[in-house]
Amino acid sequence: MSERGQWSSRIGFVLAAAGSAIGLGAIWKFPYMAGMNGGGAFLLVYLAAVLGVGISMMLAELAMGRAVQRDAITSFAALGGPVGVFFGWLSLLAAFLILAFYCVIGGWTVGYLGLALSGGLFDPVDSAGFARHHQEFIADPVASLLLFAVFLALTALILAGGIKSGIERVSKVLMPILFGLLLLMIIRSVTLPGAMEGVLFLLRPDIGGITPKVLIDALGFACFSLSLGFGAMLTYGSYVRKEENMAKSALWVVCLQSICAVLAGLMIMPAVFAFGMQPTEGPGLTYITLPAVFKAMPGGQLFAILFFLLLLIAALTSSISLLEPLVARLIDRHGFSRAKAAIVVLLVLFIPGIPAAWSFGGADLPRIFGQSPFGFMDSITSNLMLPLNAMAACLIMGWRNLPLFLQELYLREPKQGVYPGWVRSVVACCRFLAPGVIVVILGANLLF
Ligand code: TRP
Repeated sequence: MSERGQWSSRIGFVLAAAGSAIGLGAIWKFPYMAGMNGGGAFLLVYLAAVLGVGISMMLAELAMGRAVQRDAITSFAALGGPVGVFFGWLSLLAAFLILAFYCVIGGWTVGYLGLALSGGLFDPVDSAGFARHHQEFIADPVASLLLFAVFLALTALILAGGIKSGIERVSKVLMPILFGLLLLMIIRSVTLPGAMEGVLFLLRPDIGGITPKVLIDALGFACFSLSLGFGAMLTYGSYVRKEENMAKSALWVVCLQSICAVLAGLMIMPAVFAFGMQPTEGPGLTYITLPAVFKAMPGGQLFAILFFLLLLIAALTSSISLLEPLVARLIDRHGFSRAKAAIVVLLVLFIPGIPAAWSFGGADLPRIFGQSPFGFMDSITSNLMLPLNAMAACLIMGWRNLPLFLQELYLREPKQGVYPGWVRSVVACCRFLAPGVIVVILGANLLF
């Protein structure tokens, strides 16, 4: 496997993995999920899930990838036997479905960048106008499909560039800039008149508001936001050098991601309340609120352009990591060249992308279990496939391949580099806590 790409440094890996984690999930999905699930209650469960089980689940996945040095299906099969093969395929199916709707939102971002550049973003005069403007924008069947295609093509283009030159270089420069811009926007948002109510809505821990739906949404979003459960981290793990301390890197990635989600919430929620909008708006929330915030800022157009550009890049670093497992599979298993693999995946992805793009009024589509195709793809992946797959990775490493797991967690023999108590708790979490939590939450949602 000498031609297999590798990260050039620890920081390169951390930023690439954080780049995968931090994307539309934090900035688009977190605020609207929190808004629909009671704000403080959702944040509480989300943070508990991420810090309690997320880190261990991420390590299980990274370790699988680095141990086997192959794509997701091969790794699942090698370590998990026949059951592993099933989960390997499940992970690729999940990747496929997520990418389809992810690229639709990526397309919105491209579109909003265009609107920011042309100034059309600021046409509406009141909050109802911003909402209407967004609804009209996403209901246009031609534009939504076209923008989806543009975003998908951008993803494939970067991917074809390979590991070091493509993914790593882009992440390294741009993630820090995005962070700075988030902070700036928060300052504007929380100083709007009436913003405090939104801050409280998000930050006040609301234990009474925790329902089975909040639990499953928060758990599903924890997996989604950490890019867990379908081989993205597994694939990234396979490019990590053996002498690297993965535990430390994973901790960094998890912290950066959850900080980013909270920051995005702090950027959106106060503005939602200040402008009298609805926190339960759903997938459009970020795209309706932000233009209003920009309009209320001096130099708003410039910041809007910068912001949507960076959001686009954050989305790209994530969609790259979604495509990478599929591309890696074609390369490792079927001997495709990188460029050819990227093109094939791109073309196939167009098919599930069409119903996802037209779910917002672009066409009269049948509903699946009472949801639009978009909503269905979103919830079945986040709330079922990702947690199941993450659990499989935990069980496979925690029980079936424990010696291998320990070997990956410790830097090398003699055991060094990592605090042993921590390794023990990671292992215990993978063996008992994470599978337990996932079974209980999935069960509660089947029953209630
Ligand atoms: N975590 C990314 C986000 O929050 C989305 C993502 C990228 C993802 N790769 C993934 C989700 C793998 C699940 C699995 O935007």
